[in-house]
Amino acid sequence: MKVLIVGGGGREHALAWKLRRDDPQCDILAAPGNPGIAKLGRCVNISATNLDALVTLAREEAVTFTLVGPEAPLEAGVVDRFRAEGLAIFGPTRAAARIETSKRFAKELMLAAGVPTASAQTFTEVAPAKAEVRRLGAPVVVKASGIASGKGVIVAMSIAEADAAIDSMLVDNAFGSAGAEVLVEEFMEGEEVSLFALTDGTHVLPFIGAQDHKRIGEGDTGPNTGGMGAYAPVAIAPEALVREAVDCIFTPTLSAMREQGCAFTGLLYAGLMLTKQGPKVVEFNCRFGDPETQALLPLMASSLLSPMRAIAQGHSLADAAPLAWKPGASVSTVVAAAGYPGTIATGDTITLPDDREEVIVFHAGTKRLADDTLVTSGGRVVAVTAIAADIRAAQQASAAAAAQVKFEGAQFRRDIGWRELARDPETRSARS
Ligand code: AMP
Ligand code: GLY
Repeated sequence: MKVLIVGGGGREHALAWKLRRDDPQCDILAAPGNPGIAKLGRCVNISATNLDALVTLAREEAVTFTLVGPEAPLEAGVVDRFRAEGLAIFGPTRAAARIETSKRFAKELMLAAGVPTASAQTFTEVAPAKAEVRRLGAPVVVKASGIASGKGVIVAMSIAEADAAIDSMLVDNAFGSAGAEVLVEEFMEGEEVSLFALTDGTHVLPFIGAQDHKRIGEGDTGPNTGGMGAYAPVAIAPEALVREAVDCIFTPTLSAMREQGCAFTGLLYAGLMLTKQGPKVVEFNCRFGDPETQALLPLMASSLLSPMRAIAQGHSLADAAPLAWKPGASVSTVVAAAGYPGTIATGDTITLPDDREEVIVFHAGTKRLADDTLVTSGGRVVAVTAIAADIRAAQQASAAAAAQVKFEGAQFRRDIGWRELARDPETRSARS
């Protein structure tokens, strides 16, 4: 078995780590990969969006299948290209990836299929967008329709703030073409949970829930980031909630996509708001989440390789066993460069704690120099995942190991999982 992993972040390192656990004989190839993945397989210096070079590599290496981590190659049509060449690949086609790449497509699909989500309307003109803001009242949400690296969403607490967001997107082009169209959306109140499901287009294998921590500061304060840490499981997303999400969200969404002629295969990520009226979709992503993947995969007891391979090769999951999970909890703490999420320094020498069975260091923004020195090369440098008997022990172990990651200006949150720890113990143990 030989698998080509497209991408080079912490998520891709976690995927490589898990595939290697599932099959120690599995040959791993990554493009472009990173120094962490390089310990598990071979990294080839090809960018994740260089489709021609990826096709050539997959052919020359006769890979069993290719697995795509980030959304950019999916949006660029890597799956369409591979399939046209008869190469097995895990991920959605470009048309199916619109579930993430076009908020308008996703919203219209959900509303037509009766999938619970905030009501929303799309605008390209300022005046009707502002009129809609007044009709809904504050708080209200304004979103750029295209991909804006997670920055195109303004949860406006006042009408004035919503107006300013509309002006910046439609008049000042603050988000370029991603903001040429805006969505004005009803505000949903609740706690957010990330729920992943593997799918062949019809059947789903749901994961357990995870929770991301988007803000830079402890207690969820300060600016938004790509994600400063994640934990799993989440007590407010017990099995019954997952089942409800499969029935009311995943199944009707997948069926609507098949009807539209763009069946979704791969990993569908639902960002859910757990409202008083039940789970509602905040957004879909067409790929694994980062850093949720780094928290979830070390807890997965069953094989990921086997359903992934089935999906990549176009087989049905109808008879696939449900995914199985280890007992206990997982916390992944991201260690970021000084200045992140703003302007960051790179090239600083890194020292890492040793890998242990319960503590894994996933590389994200790291680079190995010719003299073998490991240096920082991105905003989120590593994610340190600890698994333990309970969330408190996992948080402590993850934070302690994160503190052993040394480079100039390293910053991390010591409170990943704080919402879970704040729940009363009765709720917390409800999953098992
Ligand atoms: P998105 O990029 O659509 O996931 O939005 C980014 C973040 O904005 C989400 O993770 C939520 O915290 C928040 N958000 C987005 N839409 C809504 C909404 N309709 N109501 C409340 N919060 C929202
Ligand atoms: N953790 C959020 C994302 O991957 O988009």
